[in-house]
Order: sequence, then structure tokens, then C-alpha cells
Amino acid sequence: MCGIIGFTGSHSAVPVIIEGLKKLEYRGYDSAGIAVVGSKGISMVKASGKIENLCKKIESGEPIEGNTGIGHTRWATHGVPNDINAHPHMSPDGRFAIVHNGIIENFAELRNELVDRGCTFKSDTDTEVIVHLLSLYYEGDFKKAMMKTVARLEGTYAIGAVCSECPNSIFVTKSFNPMILGVGIGENFFASDVTALVSHTRNVIYLEDGELAELTPDEISVYNAAGKRVEKTISRVMWDTEAAEKGGYEHFMLKEIMEQPNALKSAIEPRVKNGIANLSELNLSDEELRSINHIVITACGSAYYAGCAGKYAIEKLTRIPVSVELASELRYDDPIVDEHTLLIVLSQSGETLDTICAMREMKNRGTHVAAIVNVVGSTIAKLADSVIYTYAGPEIAVATTKGYTTQVAVLYLFAVHAALALGKIDEGEARRLTGEILKIPANIQRAFDLNPQIDELAKKYYNNKSLFFIGRNVDYAVAMEGSLKMKEISYIHSEAYAAGELKHGTIALINEGSPVIAVACYRELFDKMMSNIKEVKARGAEVLGVAIEDMKKIFSEADDVILVPKTEPIFAVTSEIVPLQLLAYYVAKENGCDIDKPRNLAKSVTVE
Ligand code: M6R
Repeated sequence: MCGIIGFTGSHSAVPVIIEGLKKLEYRGYDSAGIAVVGSKGISMVKASGKIENLCKKIESGEPIEGNTGIGHTRWATHGVPNDINAHPHMSPDGRFAIVHNGIIENFAELRNELVDRGCTFKSDTDTEVIVHLLSLYYEGDFKKAMMKTVARLEGTYAIGAVCSECPNSIFVTKSFNPMILGVGIGENFFASDVTALVSHTRNVIYLEDGELAELTPDEISVYNAAGKRVEKTISRVMWDTEAAEKGGYEHFMLKEIMEQPNALKSAIEPRVKNGIANLSELNLSDEELRSINHIVITACGSAYYAGCAGKYAIEKLTRIPVSVELASELRYDDPIVDEHTLLIVLSQSGETLDTICAMREMKNRGTHVAAIVNVVGSTIAKLADSVIYTYAGPEIAVATTKGYTTQVAVLYLFAVHAALALGKIDEGEARRLTGEILKIPANIQRAFDLNPQIDELAKKYYNNKSLFFIGRNVDYAVAMEGSLKMKEISYIHSEAYAAGELKHGTIALINEGSPVIAVACYRELFDKMMSNIKEVKARGAEVLGVAIEDMKKIFSEADDVILVPKTEPIFAVTSEIVPLQLLAYYVAKENGCDIDKPRNLAKSVTVE
């Protein structure tokens, strides 16, 4: 989704903003623009398409001078992606320019009011009302105009604004959308994402909803909604620039797949005390855990599939019923929950709007909300009653990999922690199971040995219009994630089915040469899966079987076989998914797709 960046300092703002926009590219965008305040007022350049188009326009135009500026990458919601709808938006008098992430829900009403007052609109965006309001309310005091403007807005936003009469100031504010302030020496920054800031500073301030901040080169002043100054804590970002760069890999996605062993170590090891999983961040006493009679997991996309995978381990070990719900559905479902329900929210970015809304809905009904989140200081992390960070490091590729596996691993830790607290397992068993979780990073490392084989298999499977993934029990959860990975980066249509469901309709689609990826790692149902493989083979399917290294029987049915390292069956998902991540990656590569930034997708989905 949209990205924003701003800089005020003692040298030209343009290179800093362009560099920041490039760092934000991964979020997904279709146009970009900058506005810089100089001695002759505000200069603005916007271009649809890649940031390169913007750079070319800047280079071929009048030189832009000024040490204070703002930039934006837009992912169109209101109005097609073109130069006019791109941000920044400038007031007709040229006094203000703003960038905005989010959606102004009452924009139609505000627009009508402003048109009645004589304003003329240039774009189709919801954003343009903000700059008109600023201009309308300005009586020589930038801060007051910002406060009056913000008071009129409904919806979600992170806004950065500059004014030609205050060439050393930027005002920023937020509601539901992330806004991070970068604290430098003689220079200050803002951005929607720390990745755009870490090359300049690792000292950051997380702005809260309703707060307004003024950035000058020497100072950051933060005010509450009433305009009173508030003191903010400066936090230190724990990772550096290298973590957000490709580091010699062709794509971020491959780098992030390969980073999984380390990411999982960071997610697991700090949570093992005396050899036993301990999720103290849950902030729930054993007694409180014992009062839980229903666990709801909610999330979107891959995070939802991580929930589906974790459900099996949690139910098996705790015997508490778990429902996994799509956040976009749950928020409107009038869910039957109460204070005996535990809500677990999964989100890599911590900014997914549907997940935030579902979480609020559940919180209002008295459930304790535990969030498993990667991005520190994100909205979900702030709203939750307890936060368990996955510590996966920055994930840049739109297709999540280490984000997903670290979420699953934290659910495993939760399962053991809760099962022990509930007396469903004894300390000996908790220690044994924790030992198995601790082996996950090494098991994933071993799964990387499959890399060359999967690269070869991709050459066989890439040229298909449609692929089927099938599995049973937890393998079905793996199949769903494998299928999503495949479709989102390779643009090949792909469906995941519970293997036992095939004969209830879907098998009609199987014919000569239909590629079927059969995940058959779940030992207890291996024979059933073998029957399902036979069923599709009998209709002409080409089967790629995925099984555990000692399940060699699969060779008798499957045309191709991937054997993954043997693990404790309860915790097998984290290594089973690796070959499917790699398969999606190599298939997309064979098809020449834009792997890190697939079409139509954004890394962080901050709109409904
Ligand atoms: O940041 P989140 O984990 O909340 O994001 C949820 C989904 O948007 C995300 O997992 C999406 O499905 C990915 N593109 C999948 O690779």
C-alpha cells in the first residue's frame, strides 16, 4: 500500500526522499511524487509508474531546491493511477502540499462542502480535501490549521504536510496508519515504515493516533489532540540497513526464505526457560489460561494459513477448541465470544486493516487479545492486551516466508506453554516437545538441500495454467499456504483442497496432465493420501508428492517426489512449507515474474 517519507535538515531533501521512496517500493505502488519547500515556494513533481519515471522527470525539469520535503508512493484506491491522482497534493494557492496514506471516509461530504465554498478539485482522490481544508483554516498558524483540519477527518490516515511559509517545518499526524518519526542530528525524518529510515537513523518515535508532530531540523515536538505538548520515548530499531537489503541474493524472497533458520532461532530461543517453552509475554496467569474455553485465531492471507497450521498443534496439546477465522469475515460475523475466549491475532506487518478491525470487535466483547506480530510498534502490537513479537527481521518481499514460519513457531510455543499450564502434559513432555521446537531451525536448514532439486522441478511445472495442491489434516493447511505462494508470485491459477473433498466436486477438473502437488507428510493419514493420489492419477494427473524422508512408498504413485527432513509430526509445518516456498519461487522465476513485487499486491494491506 502507499508509503510516505519526509525529511528536514541542512542539505537538499530530494536525494533523501528519493532514496526513501525506493526503500518503500516493496509495499506496492503505482505512482510516486515529491514536494520540496524552497526559497521560491513549493516545487512538486509526480509521475505514474515506477520511481524511475519520477527520477527522470525530476532530472529533466527545473532544479529543485530546498531542505524540507515530503514524498509518497501511491497504491490507487480513489481514482486511477495517473500523474494527477498521484501524491503530493498541493493547495491551489501553492501554500501547502501534503502526502497521505489511508482513506478519508467522509471525503464526499467534505468535498461537497468545499465545492460549495468555491474550491476546485483537480484529482479524483479522497486526499485532496485535506489540502483544501488546510488552506481554508490557515490564518498564519500552521499548527492550528493542522489541528482544525484533522478534527474534520474521519477514516484512516497518516499525513505529512509542508507549508511554503514555514520552510523548515513538517507537520505529521496519524489515525490507524503507521507514522514513525526518525530522530537524527540536525535533521529529522518521518516515514510509514522504518525501512525507509534505518540508513539515516535507528532512533525512532512511534506516533500515536490523534497526535500531531512538528519536525524541524533540530527538534521534534509532539502534541496531543488538544494541542498540549507530550513527551515521547525514543526507541532503538534493533536491525540495521543490511537486514533490509538483498545481500547478494537475486530477490528478497529468496533471501528471506534462506533467513528462516536464523529468524526461527530469534523467535524460539528467547522463549525457552530451563528447557521449557515459556510465553511470559502472554500476560496470562495459569489460572487465567485455565478459564479459557475457546481460542479464536484471526488473520488474513498467509497469516490466516499460519493460524490454520497452528490450530492442529494447539488443539492436540491443550484440548481447547480452536476456530481460525478470516479477519475480513470475523469483523462482520457477530461472533459468539466472551471473557473465556482468547483471541490470537497473527500479522507480520501489524497494520492489516481487516485484522485490526476484527481485533477491535473482539476486544469490545471482552476477549483477551494476544497478538503475534513481527513489526515492532505497529498498530496491532499497540492495540493488543499482550504482544509476542516474532523477531523475524524486516520482510520486504510481498510474499511472506519467514513471517509465516515464525508465526507458526510461536503458535507451537504457545501450545506447549498452555498445555503445561492446563496440566494436559507434564514437565517431562513439555521439555521433550520444546526440544523438538528448538530443532526447527536446523530442520529448515536441512530442507534447503532440496534447493537444486526444486529448481529442476520448477522447469517441469512452470508452464501450466492451473495447479492443484492437496493434503489432509495439517498438510491441508500447508497445501493452502503453498497454493497461495504459487498464485501470488507466479500468477498461475492454483487451488488447495482437502484431499478427501476432491471426489465431492473438484475431481471433475482433473484430466490428462493436470498437475497435482500432493502434500503427504502427515503419517497417520499417509495411506489415505496414497489413495487420493491414485484417484487423481487414474484421471491422468501428473503428481508431485511431498513426503517425509522415510515415507519412500510415495515413489510407487507419484511422478516426482520431494522428501523433507523427519521432524516431530506436531511441529512439521515449518519444514514442510520450505519446498513449497522454493517451488513457487523457482516457478515464478521461470515465468519471468516480478517476484518481490507481484502485480496488484501490496506488502501491507491498510485498506478494507
Ligand atoms: O501483515 P500481515 O501478516 O497481516 O498480512 C496478511 C496478508 O496480507 C499476507 O500474509 C499476504 O497474504 C501475503 N502476501 C502472503 O504472502
